[in-house]
Amino acid sequence: MMDRSFMRESTRHFKPYYSPTSDGSLRLDTNTNVLGPNPAAMDALSDLSDIDINQYPNTYSADLRSVLAEFYGLGAENFVTGSGSDEILDVLFKTFTDKGDRTVVPYPSYSIYDYFSELNGGVPVPVDLDADFQLDVGSILAADGKMIVIPSPNNPTGNSFRRSDLLEIVEGTDVPVVIDEAYGEFHHESFIPSVRKYDNLIVTRTFSKAYAMAGLRIGYCVCSPEIADMMTCIRIPYSLNMLSEKAAVAALGDQDFIRRSADMVERNRPMLVEGLEALGFECYPSDANFVLARSPIDHRELVKGLKERGILIRDFGHRRLLENCVRFTIGTDEMNIRVIEACEELTR
Ligand SMILES: Cc1ncc(COP(=O)(O)O)c(C=O)c1O
Repeated sequence: MMDRSFMRESTRHFKPYYSPTSDGSLRLDTNTNVLGPNPAAMDALSDLSDIDINQYPNTYSADLRSVLAEFYGLGAENFVTGSGSDEILDVLFKTFTDKGDRTVVPYPSYSIYDYFSELNGGVPVPVDLDADFQLDVGSILAADGKMIVIPSPNNPTGNSFRRSDLLEIVEGTDVPVVIDEAYGEFHHESFIPSVRKYDNLIVTRTFSKAYAMAGLRIGYCVCSPEIADMMTCIRIPYSLNMLSEKAAVAALGDQDFIRRSADMVERNRPMLVEGLEALGFECYPSDANFVLARSPIDHRELVKGLKERGILIRDFGHRRLLENCVRFTIGTDEMNIRVIEACEELTR
């Protein structure tokens, strides 16, 4: 009988990733761009006459890396691309951590770091954030990791970390420090220029959030040429398909859409926060396109009630330090009004 005893022992306890049935619901659960699909990417995909799907894509995404290099004023050798930044994270674990190696991650943060660490035979070492959801720099440096991974802005708390704290960590160790800037376009501060100075710094980015292209699975990292070279030896060849690469090149050329998206989030975040706070939610400060809020009613009841009203949000209420918390993607005006009205029905 085929059962889990045949599975690799270290992964037998794994469960499938979050995968709700959405059937037309308003998706405020995955922090994608509520303005809809990236227009430049859609335009690029409407004419595929230059694409020959009978051939492999270029092995290491030379076209995308070249436009990224121009965009950031760095060299193509500073970039590695992947099928989403999740793949980049997996490649980083495969490149730098061996069986039993410790990876230091803040807690609470993006749960996939623990998953990739364990998947690659390593040991995730969570270091609790303080009461303001800021980093405990001393404990992170003292935790003796083979790698340190920190998202800023952080998911699911929404805040970014103090630049001085992140710098202290990068400067305070020789091991690779990964700063995950999946929500970097919503925050006007990035560590990307610092890869010139620090050869242990890796910054990951994605086309899934502000760029509104989650379905095409495109991510990349920016780092020293030495690290990029190591990762290139580990990464699966051809992992970024040619349609996604073409769309990403086009999307990078339309920064107006990215600015509009970030401006909309900045305008609408206070509206959602004020609406929720008036209903008794406790909202945490956010530099991203989502907000973490402690619900005045049971988190399961809230998430279920919203689902019945055709709105998906993400439930974190069962996690330590996030008791009764849920996460809302910031919507357009109409979406925010719909969410607040639905929450009002459920909380009154
Ligand atoms: C902090 C963080 N990093 C990385 C990702 C993964 O993004 P991608 O779609 O590029 O794999 C997410 C997605 O939710 C995220 O929240």
